[in-house]
Amino acid sequence: MHNQDLYQLFMDELADMQSAENQIVASLPKLIKLASFSELKESLSKHLEETNNQVKRIQQIFSLLDEEPEEKTCEAMKGLLEEADEIVKNKTKSPTLDAAIISAAQKVEHYEIASYGTLKSFAKYLDLDSEIIALIQETLDEEGAADKKLTKIAEGTAFSSGINKEAAQSGRTAKNK
Ligand SMILES: [Fe+2]
Repeated sequence: MHNQDLYQLFMDELADMQSAENQIVASLPKLIKLASFSELKESLSKHLEETNNQVKRIQQIFSLLDEEPEEKTCEAMKGLLEEADEIVKNKTKSPTLDAAIISAAQKVEHYEIASYGTLKSFAKYLDLDSEIIALIQETLDEEGAADKKLTKIAEGTAFSSGINKEAAQSGRTAKNK
């Protein structure tokens, strides 16, 4: 018999992620529309598809546990997405706007990586079915890959310059320089 308090915490945090993922599904199309760099657009679009699957995986976990998710709003994600709206607001399409979108998306990814990492650990110590741990791991892998891809787009590779360099060269000159 597992610890009921930790099990309840697992349920609460899983419901929180369901809300978080649904909020991301609702917000990503707007960011995709605002992005200019094609690789950024593609990678956000791919992540939108992945996020739809992540919602399904969470539903699968609830049904494997024979539980109904509690209706709740992930306030942290709400805040991160409000902040994303704020930083892209009133910016015309440019490398700087792309850099802002990447910045917002990476904050979202890191919140998710932390949350799924915790859920996976809880699941392990609660001795939940290995199928549940595998579902969490699958999502965790996608979040990690999405984050790394965004870093690559921002920082560039040996063969291409990144968005941040372009933004640094194309925007207004920094003060006192
Ligand atoms: Fe996600």
